[in-house]
Amino acid sequence: MNEVYSYDEVTSTNDLAKKMVDILKNGDIVWALSQTAGKGKGERHWHSPRGGLWFSIVYKPQKLCEDPNIYTKMASVAVIKVLKRLKVKGVGVKWPNDIYCGRKKLGGILTEIFTKAHNHAVIIGIGINVNNKPPEDVKDAISLFEITNVKLSLSQLLNMISSEAQRLYNLITSGKRNVITNLWRNAMVIKKGHKIKVSDFSGKTYDATVVKVLSDSLIVEKDGIKERIHPSEISLS
Ligand code: BTN
Repeated sequence: MNEVYSYDEVTSTNDLAKKMVDILKNGDIVWALSQTAGKGKGERHWHSPRGGLWFSIVYKPQKLCEDPNIYTKMASVAVIKVLKRLKVKGVGVKWPNDIYCGRKKLGGILTEIFTKAHNHAVIIGIGINVNNKPPEDVKDAISLFEITNVKLSLSQLLNMISSEAQRLYNLITSGKRNVITNLWRNAMVIKKGHKIKVSDFSGKTYDATVVKVLSDSLIVEKDGIKERIHPSEISLS
């Protein structure tokens, strides 16, 4: 049985999980009601007040997957599956690790690989705006409460997501990574036919239509010309 270590307030559940790594078993969880130094991708601060769901799942695979992104993909699929089960409409993954509802960001995932001596642990930090007010300075953030008008039980949501993650994680360890990749591709918020804004690496911005979603890139069309772009070049709003 996986253990859930729960706290009222921590700096960051990912950082605490690293400190606790020796006592944590595969699949154990570190959960906090609030974080004072929550971390987002790119070293950004992650606003984590009470009311949101902030936790880290720790896995200790015998052998790390050669594509560590698979762990993030697996966790985002687990979150989307649970939100869909809860009948939240319009949820999907925005490449690579953002959980979106329509064009608004509901949460994110920060995976860190922690290595100590010859041991390693995969720490998957998951943050979802649930009953809290999303940060005002993030223009496209939204919470589940704002979408559904219903307050959800954080422990129930944690339970549902971690069980789903464990099920999907077992697929990775049993060599079925392609199942995760396919589920992740299908969970993308951006689908064929969507109109998107592209801000490409050269600084050019233009509107385009998605023609094909691949696992590592997108084919878009603008003025009849098809182009392959990196998913990080997309903006939804
Ligand atoms: C992102 O979209 O930038 C990723 C955000 C990840 C936030 C979660 S909250 C729980 C865990 N602990 C952290 O410090 N960060 C992750």
